[in-house]
Amino acid sequence: NLIIETLLGIYVVCFLPGLYPVSCETRGSDLKQDEVLVLCPPDCLQVRPSVFGSDVYAAISSICGAAVHRGILGPSGGPVRLQKQQGRRSYVSSYANGIHSQALHQWTASFHLSKTVDAPLELTNSARATAQPAATRPADCQMDIAIIMDSSSNIGQRRFNLQKNFVTKLAAMLRVGPTGPHLGLIQTSDSPRTEFLLTNFTKPKELLFAIKELKYLGGDTNTGKAIMHAAEVFFTPGNGVRRGHPRVMMVLIDGWPSDDVERAAMLARESGINVFMVSVSKPAAEELSMVQDKDFLKKAVCKDNGFFSYSIPSWFSNNKHVRPLAQRLCSLDDLLCSKTCYNSVNIGFLIDGSSSVGWQNFQLVLDFLAGIAQSFDISDVGAHIGAVQFTYEQRVEFGLLDHSNKEDAVRALRRISYMNGGTATGSAISYATQNLFRQAARGRNYLIVITDGQSYDDVQGPAMAAQRQGITIFSVGVAWAPMKELLDMASEPKDKHTFFTREFVNLSEFIQPLVRGICQAFTENN
Ligand SMILES: *[C@@H]1O[C@H](CO)[C@@H](O)[C@H](O)[C@H]1NC(C)=O
Ligand SMILES: *[C@@H]1O[C@H](CO)[C@@H](O)[C@H](O)[C@H]1NC(C)=O
Repeated sequence: NLIIETLLGIYVVCFLPGLYPVSCETRGSDLKQDEVLVLCPPDCLQVRPSVFGSDVYAAISSICGAAVHRGILGPSGGPVRLQKQQGRRSYVSSYANGIHSQALHQWTASFHLSKTVDAPLELTNSARATAQPAATRPADCQMDIAIIMDSSSNIGQRRFNLQKNFVTKLAAMLRVGPTGPHLGLIQTSDSPRTEFLLTNFTKPKELLFAIKELKYLGGDTNTGKAIMHAAEVFFTPGNGVRRGHPRVMMVLIDGWPSDDVERAAMLARESGINVFMVSVSKPAAEELSMVQDKDFLKKAVCKDNGFFSYSIPSWFSNNKHVRPLAQRLCSLDDLLCSKTCYNSVNIGFLIDGSSSVGWQNFQLVLDFLAGIAQSFDISDVGAHIGAVQFTYEQRVEFGLLDHSNKEDAVRALRRISYMNGGTATGSAISYATQNLFRQAARGRNYLIVITDGQSYDDVQGPAMAAQRQGITIFSVGVAWAPMKELLDMASEPKDKHTFFTREFVNLSEFIQPLVRGICQAFTENN
């Protein structure tokens, strides 16, 4: 193999069997070979390629983008060796060489990249100079971070000042900046108080000064309220959160909270925020009787995961905890809690196209389904939706992977044309099970069956078979749909998975409860 870089930075390829020219967007999954030498064009950083993972990349990543991220490809392009690997359960995100790779929960195939060792010429110097292991050092931190400080009367003025010192040191170590983390702050008291937003201070000096100036508030430790406030108000686009940046909330509690932290933290996580709980001076034995829920710390964080809670025995020995905490806040490895129902579910719509519905009501059904689809983050790595229409026959309107963004998916839903015919809901369920959901993924696959009448065939058998394959079924009945059949189809607990209304116009009232039902089922199964 011989590759010669000319003075103009053009690669001349001489006698290189199997060298594959690719574009900046070519994904690992686009190539058939298990091992291949590819030639990347120049300036792939400019097109902002999508990259998932670090070191090992999910197969949907751009090959050349991943090569830049890994530090083995410079601005002038060049050859890279790609090796396919097995899929992984999770891909770690990191920032390196100008590319912010994304985390991904699971993918069926991966690849690994290396320099072409047998190529006679090294890559450009600039690429070598910036090549670094994909680090999770605070310097690479790209998070949007909310710090929730305890300002209640539990902590008292003196320990409040120690807490301020601690937060100052932490903020100094995080080094905020336009290309680094952004940090905002909320104080817990009777009611939460936003002291400053993510965008207010992007220079470390100003930020540290603002923290020093914080005033002690006193009052109850309504940490749950403060968490809700952060999730609903603080982390909103109008308040300066950055698109595509991970969101992290670090909640400091001195002693114990006065309100419900568990529910608030769950809602925050469901909206994609990673919640870290830091408890300082845990309640003493004689204080425990005053604590409503002794396990509040465990319950507030992502289940089965010691990563999201941290205990500091007292404010006096806090120095040695600054660095480990800063590292955790910035390390994307374990941020799986930000996988939510909104970005991880497959939803199939099974739509009754029988003649009793009528064209006008059929449009109301489509409106209803579009309303559900609107609630999810549809993308090729996010939520997927698909649709099957049925009479006595069945038709895949579009599959789960046919649309990679919300606009396209909703447009496709609205374009479905009405079939007009009989009603065989049982066969339709079997058909959807086989043709819509190919992979079993327990807790991620949802089928919403919507019908206005009695089925000509048995629904219970096919519905049970689908549920055994890990599909959760919600049944939505309108007009003459018999309640017994709706209950027969629905997953357990039946009452939470069954909806019925006399009028098509009232379907829209089920959008929110259905979305909530999907999220609840997702949370319980994941
Ligand atoms: C932070 O920014 C917001 C919006 O720009 C502004 O209204 C607010 O006064 C700022 N707060 C501080 C403390 O600078
Ligand atoms: C159905 O919708 C109509 C019009 O929006 C409303 O007036 C009515 O109360 C709804 N019926 C039920 C049972 O919710």
